[in-house]
Amino acid sequence: MALYSDKVMDHFQNPRNVGKLDDADGIGEVGNAKCGDIMRMYIKVRDGVIVDCKFNTFGCGSAIASSSMATEMIKGKPVDEALELSNKAVVEALDGLPAYKLHCSVLAEEAVKAAVKDYYDKNGIAYDPALFSKLEDCEHCHG
Ligand code: FES
Repeated sequence: MALYSDKVMDHFQNPRNVGKLDDADGIGEVGNAKCGDIMRMYIKVRDGVIVDCKFNTFGCGSAIASSSMATEMIKGKPVDEALELSNKAVVEALDGLPAYKLHCSVLAEEAVKAAVKDYYDKNGIAYDPALFSKLEDCEHCHG
């Protein structure tokens, strides 16, 4: 069996929604201290719905495929639903990742959460900090 699924290869070779949103309503940047990869996620929100999103990933193929898939999964979704996106769901949508590459999908989940948090913060929207507790470790490493 091939190490990477066709979907992973497709999203790695033809990533969707790559780039930057100049008028983003929320921007999340996360990094993995161990591998040094960095992911930046941009979201545009209208009436509580993510109407557009883009990403830039300076990292491995699995991180690129994961972020590409994550953008497809959150586009058109209400912001609070996007927050429910788990790395597991991203991996499933990609038809799997090798075990030692699972952390790359975690980066995608965290980048989405960081972008939503930024959107909430910029717009004075109250939230339960526990929603973003995983991010603190990430920001800690990254910072
Ligand atoms: Fe770092 Fe994939 S090896 S995110």
